[in-house]
Amino acid sequence: MKVIISGDHAGMTLRNEVKSVLDELGFTYEDVGADCTASVDYPDYAFPAAERVANGEFDRGIFVCGTGIGISISANKVKGIRCALVHDVFSAKATRQHNDSNILAMGERVIGPGLAREIVKTWLTTEFEGGRHQNRIEKISTYEKE
Ligand code: RB5
Repeated sequence: MKVIISGDHAGMTLRNEVKSVLDELGFTYEDVGADCTASVDYPDYAFPAAERVANGEFDRGIFVCGTGIGISISANKVKGIRCALVHDVFSAKATRQHNDSNILAMGERVIGPGLAREIVKTWLTTEFEGGRHQNRIEKISTYEKE
């Protein structure tokens, strides 16, 4: 599985934690997030990275900003993206099983590194359940095309 990582200045430290989990799990990744502590604009880092998930270059994305809110709102503007803002392990599992989320967003100012690591592991290793959930996702795709 190929994972693209992105985020703004406020998510830089947590992105390093995410990369360490991906190394442990043996996943291939590219970090295209801001490599600076100077203030940048999260949409500039969300849109291009989300497009690379939507066009199939990457299987999944993991995005981090201060709260996870701005980057998730931005990612969800890209057609084909189902970005879930997650700060607990239950939701990390449920959003894969029910929503087939293809981008995970987290906020570095919201959760600590230990919980973030568990969320990332759970989100990357939980399969989509399909069935009735497939129909719901198709309704989202249809709406996007209208
Ligand atoms: C940056 O200060 C902060 O606003 C941003 O990282 C994010 O939390 C926005 O939703």
